[in-house]
Amino acid sequence: MITKVNSLKGEITVPGDKSISHRGVMFGAIAEGITELTGFLDGADCRSTIACFRAMGIDITQEHDHVVIHGKGLHGLTSPKRMLDVGNSGTTTRLISGILAGQPFVSSLNGDESIQKRPMGRIITPLTQMGAYIKSIKDNGCAPLEIGGTPLHSIHYDSPVASAQVKSCVLLAGLYADGITSVTEPVISRNHTELMLKGFGADIKSNGLTASVQGNPRLIGQKIVVPGDISSAAYFIVAGLICPNADLLIKNVNTNPTRAGIIQVAKDMGGNIELLNNRIVSGEPVADIHVTTSSLHGCEISGDIIPTLIDEIPVIAVMAACASGTTTIKDAAELKVKESNRIETVTENLRNMGCDITPTDDGMIIANQKPLHGALIKTYKDHRIAMSFAIAGLVANGETTFDNENCCVISYPNFFETLKALS
Ligand code: S3P
Repeated sequence: MITKVNSLKGEITVPGDKSISHRGVMFGAIAEGITELTGFLDGADCRSTIACFRAMGIDITQEHDHVVIHGKGLHGLTSPKRMLDVGNSGTTTRLISGILAGQPFVSSLNGDESIQKRPMGRIITPLTQMGAYIKSIKDNGCAPLEIGGTPLHSIHYDSPVASAQVKSCVLLAGLYADGITSVTEPVISRNHTELMLKGFGADIKSNGLTASVQGNPRLIGQKIVVPGDISSAAYFIVAGLICPNADLLIKNVNTNPTRAGIIQVAKDMGGNIELLNNRIVSGEPVADIHVTTSSLHGCEISGDIIPTLIDEIPVIAVMAACASGTTTIKDAAELKVKESNRIETVTENLRNMGCDITPTDDGMIIANQKPLHGALIKTYKDHRIAMSFAIAGLVANGETTFDNENCCVISYPNFFETLKALS
């Protein structure tokens, strides 16, 4: 249960970046020698990735945020005895599919109820063009999937969606194809795969909207320091801007420009936000983020910035509900195919808290700042919905309760404890 706060002050660190943690395990598994990750996100999604690679013969030890992967090289995976379980994780599903497509064995994967509704046609199309065998077992374009056992050839793929999961899937399959595999996106999506694979020794290049990789590289294990996840920092960025008497320092956050759109939006809305101690860690930009109580105004959020803040839109909507004027979010139809349909789940919950919000086909319009009141939040087991509405609860009159607080284990197991300690 969350109630209104009178002030919010302190210094926090947030858990490791989810996208980088997944990739560290995957690339470490197909590299030669040891890969060591510190700052790893010990959340359910990344544990699913570890379990999948263990099931393919990779020795991985994990103690909280410290993970050691004994990689066996590009061709060292062994056929899993059972169906791989990807849990709730879209990143595991789509990235591992690229690797599985290049294996000499056929394997299958499945996940939870939410995963079984998420579109996999977007990876089935390019992988099939590469010569892969990949089949939606129920023939509905979703998991469960059966993959692998055929040789791959390189392609150039013009992706219809700006999706790092699609781009990464094709590039990972490209490691197993002769020649150069390339992907062009309509708008640049997060580039962690490109940055990290280069560190492992792959010949991978980015040129504007196109990323390309040379097949059959020798990947060598790395030591990687995983920075804090800006998607997790986002809840506290918004809390620090909308709560009264707030002053928060969120330390050690990944500020890669392909991820950091929320910082620009916070500034555009008049937020007091500054980046301190900017530095590069394991090839990624990192900073400490300082936020204080702000008088916010609405703005339009659309176009190329959308992929850089797609996971933060639920909490950005909460910020918009606390701003004067109207905020319009456009070009974000991808929200419909996340862990829940986030256009619907954000609209339903913000409306229940008294906000004037209109869903659109590719976003939402949030108008007329009104005081929010507490409500029972319907999370649809979507971690980002639960955490975003916990932040709304900090400024709402009355009590905000949740049908499921536990779903935050996906990306931020100690979220509610951290929030309570601050307020
Ligand atoms: C991710 C990419 C994004 C994002 C997801 C993580 C990744 O998905 O929403 O949470 O790690 O590559 P899409 O590629 O579907 O946009």
